[in-house]
Amino acid sequence: MQSARVVALALLVLLTACHRTQSVQRGYRGQNSVEIFSEKTLLQQDEVNQYPKPIRAASPNGPTAAESYQNVHVLGDLSRQQFVRTMLSIKAWVAPEAGCNYCHNAPDYTNDDKYTKRVAREMLRMTRHINTDWTAHVGKTGVTCYTCHRGQAVPAKTWYSAPDRAVDGLMVTRASQRLPTPSSANTVLPVHALDDYLLNDDNVRVVGPTALQSGNRRSISQARDTYGLMMVMSESLGVNCTFCHYTPAFYSWQNSTPQRATAWYGIRMVRDLNNTVMVPLTGLLPPERLGPTGDVPKIYCATCHRGTSKPLYGAPMLKDYPELVRPAAAQATAAGDAPTATPMPTPAATSTPTSTTSNVSPTGAAGPDAGS
Ligand code: HEC
Ligand code: HEC
Ligand code: HEC
Ligand code: HEC
Repeated sequence: MQSARVVALALLVLLTACHRTQSVQRGYRGQNSVEIFSEKTLLQQDEVNQYPKPIRAASPNGPTAAESYQNVHVLGDLSRQQFVRTMLSIKAWVAPEAGCNYCHNAPDYTNDDKYTKRVAREMLRMTRHINTDWTAHVGKTGVTCYTCHRGQAVPAKTWYSAPDRAVDGLMVTRASQRLPTPSSANTVLPVHALDDYLLNDDNVRVVGPTALQSGNRRSISQARDTYGLMMVMSESLGVNCTFCHYTPAFYSWQNSTPQRATAWYGIRMVRDLNNTVMVPLTGLLPPERLGPTGDVPKIYCATCHRGTSKPLYGAPMLKDYPELVRPAAAQATAAGDAPTATPMPTPAATSTPTSTTSNVSPTGAAGPDAGS
């Protein structure tokens, strides 16, 4: 009896030593929403998620970049010193080895011949757009080029639309393809979930607003797609479903964590970036950068998050790089097409099924076939 207990104890010690985990209580107490993290994974993430020391801040005073240079379309409002600081930073963030000439034909810095410079100009616009108009997602933390690029010209985490495949002479559509790919978190879930939800604005929904009998259009395939997206989101952030959901009722906003609302804005932000920034780059990027269907590389949660719930563990990008926010004057003029100009709907208002009880007892609902 005694020795059995000792063996059991030794086994327990051994097991915990093999695979150390940390658990964090999430959600309201009593819900048993616990996140479990593996320490090994956390350590591996540490390497990619180190934030480089910011370059010394530059004075906002003195002549502006617009006054100092000839061909500046985005950063004209910066002081000359801030502009130079920004160039030095983007070199370190995007092209540390190739240097200024990854984008420039030095000594003629005005020259726009290299596509990389023209893409970089759109990227500057995009970064300011994220930091100015998408604070509902990025908060005061914000992003820099480094958030996605991490010292490489091509960010490590992007996705392409999967091509239809020919199998034994038959065309198999993407909808029926069952191959584990990164865009379905290496599961056999559908590979087009990201097309549906992060490029198009299909409804992310499993629970319908009404009972099946009264015209619930939610199909099995939609449920599969939703789970595909959810797996990709969880993997991108390095978290489990409980980071956002109360698992006995996935749809319930009342019982979700605040992070689920942040994620809801994240989905809308990614759609916006893919449609307004990435897709228009199709003609600008060289063929070798395009995907199997000739589409541009696209953004998803992992592009910024890289396995952490806050990119770079929440390093304060905006505090260190005020250059990457649109100036107040430009914000006023651009307000017409900024996403925040039209009041952003709240997640609960658009996504909560109006009647959840009808799902629980579909027979109770007076649908069209109720009498038959
Ligand atoms: C990743 C691409 C990229 C890298 C690397 C880069 N630049 Fe630039 N540079 C740009 C873009 C884009 C503009 C135009 C900005 C705008 O339109 O607001 C620009 C503009 C300039 C201009 C203004 C030229 C003019 O008169 O119009 C100067 C000067 C300049 N860069 C210097 C540098 C220096 C020096 C380096 C290296 C330390 C560097 N850049 C690295 C993309 C880059
Ligand atoms: C939200 C993520 C994100 C941010 C932030 C971002 N980029 Fe990019 N960038 C991308 C993606 C995605 C691509 C396309 C990569 C590919 O071709 O596979 C790209 C491509 C580029 C390219 C073309 C590289 C090549 O060799 O084809 C340049 C240059 C570039 N970005 C510069 C910048 C600069 C400068 C900033 C900051 C002002 C920036 N990016 C911020 C996601 C981002
Ligand atoms: C980072 C936060 C986050 C994580 C992690 C997450 N979800 Fe979600 N989930 C959401 C958001 C936000 C929505 C609503 C999306 C929308 O309406 O655009 C949602 C919607 C859903 C729905 C549809 C609910 C309905 O109304 O029909 C299901 C089911 C779901 N998630 C399951 C899961 C599962 C299973 C996991 C784990 C594999 C998971 N989620 C992980 C944020 C998350
Ligand atoms: C352009 C970069 C970027 C992309 C793309 C992005 N996020 Fe984020 N996300 C951030 C930043 C920055 C923060 C930190 C915000 C803060 O500190 O308030 C954040 C925070 C979050 C949080 C809150 C985490 C916490 O610990 O409170 C969630 C949840 C989240 N993101 C989910 C998502 C999901 C889901 C997607 C994809 C649909 C996504 N994000 C895409 C930049 C991004």
